[in-house]
Amino acid sequence: MIKYIGSKRKLVEGILMVVRACSGVRTVSDLFSGTSRVGISLKKAGFAVHANDHLAFAHCIATCYIQADRETWWERGVSLLEELRRTPPKDGYFTETFCRKSRFLQPKNGARVDGIRERIEEMGLEPELRAIALTSLMEAADRVDSTTGVHMAYLKQWAPRAFNTLELRMPELLPRAEAGPSFAHCLEAADAAEIEVDLAYLDPPYNQHSYLGNYHMWESLIRWDKPSVYGVACKREDCRSRKSLFNSKPRAFQALKEVVEGVHAPYLVLSFNDEGYVDRCSMESLLASRGEVLVFEKEHRRYVGAQIGIHDLQGKKVGSVGSLKNREMLYVSLPSHQVDRFLGRINVSGASGFQVSPRSH
Ligand SMILES: C[S@@+](CC[C@H](N)C(=O)[O-])C[C@H]1O[C@@H](n2cnc3c(N)ncnc32)[C@H](O)[C@@H]1O
Repeated sequence: MIKYIGSKRKLVEGILMVVRACSGVRTVSDLFSGTSRVGISLKKAGFAVHANDHLAFAHCIATCYIQADRETWWERGVSLLEELRRTPPKDGYFTETFCRKSRFLQPKNGARVDGIRERIEEMGLEPELRAIALTSLMEAADRVDSTTGVHMAYLKQWAPRAFNTLELRMPELLPRAEAGPSFAHCLEAADAAEIEVDLAYLDPPYNQHSYLGNYHMWESLIRWDKPSVYGVACKREDCRSRKSLFNSKPRAFQALKEVVEGVHAPYLVLSFNDEGYVDRCSMESLLASRGEVLVFEKEHRRYVGAQIGIHDLQGKKVGSVGSLKNREMLYVSLPSHQVDRFLGRINVSGASGFQVSPRSH
C-alpha cells in the first residue's frame, strides 16, 4: 500500500464498526477512495463496494483491489508479474524526470520503472490485469522512494530504502464479496454519488492540500502521458489547472453539499476532522437535511509533516506546528426510524477508539 496523507489506515476499524451497525446494508460506495483502504476492508467484510476517485492512480488501485476478484485474476496476475520481472531496465522519461531532474528515486530503480512501464503499455492488457501490474509497480516504486510521503520535494540525503532494488510483489487481491461484484470508477464525486447503494462513505479532502500535487509522480506513472513538468518537484503541467473544489476554502462547503444531496443511499457516513474547511456545526446541519445525525470522535496523531515541523527545500527547519494531535470525526446520517436499532448494534467499547459525541446543537 502506498504512503498517502489522509489514508484511513488507523481509522478503518471505526468506519467498519459504524457500517456494520447500519442494518440491511449490502452495497457501499466509497466516493473519495484514495488508497482504497476503506473499500478493501469493506470488501473483506463481505460488502459489495463501488470505489471512486477522480485521480487515475487511485482508480488504478481501486481496479486492482476492489474490482479484480482473486478467483478470476490471481493466477494470471502472478504469471504476468513473473514476465515483467524479466524486463530489461531502460533509461527513459521516468528516470530523466524523477531521478535526475528531481531525486525521488535512484536512477537504477528509475530505469527499472521505465522498462516495466513501457512493457505494460505495449501489452494491451485487460483493465484488471493492467491495474494489477501498475499497482504492483507503483507500490514497488513507493518502497524505494526518497520522500517524506508526498511528491512536493525530495530528501536532501537519500533515504536508506532508496538504495534497495525495486521489486515487484503480487498485490493481495481479495475474493469476490459475499454481497456481489465490486467496481472501480474514475468520476467526480458528485457524479459517483448517483450510484445507488445502501450506504455511501465520504472522505473528501479536508483542506488546501491537493492530492494531484502531492502525488503527481503516481499520476504521471499511471497515465503515462509524459507531460511537461515544472519546479524542483517536476510536477505535471496540469497540476496548475486540474483543481479539486474541496481544496478551496470558499468552495468546499458547496461542493460537499452537492455530493451529500446527490447521494442515492439511505445511510451516509462521512469522515472529517476538527481542522478542515467545514466546521462541525455546518456539517451537522448539512447532514440533518437527510435524516438523523450521530457523531463519533477520536483523538488522532496528525500526519508526519506536522510531526517533524515545516522545512525549506534545503531541509532547514523554518517553522513548527502548534498541535500534534487533532480530532477525527465520523458523521453518520441515517433514517430516524433506524436510530434505536443502530445504537443497539453499535459497539463503541471495541478497539476502534471512537466514542459517541453529543450533537453540538
Ligand atoms: C482524504 S483522501 C481519501 C483517502 C482514502 N479514504 C484512503 O483511506 O486512502 C481524499 C481523496 O479524494 C479525492 N478527490 C478529491 N477531489 C475529488 C473529487 N472532486 N471527486 C472525486 N475524488 C476526489 C482525492 O484524489 C483523494 O484521493
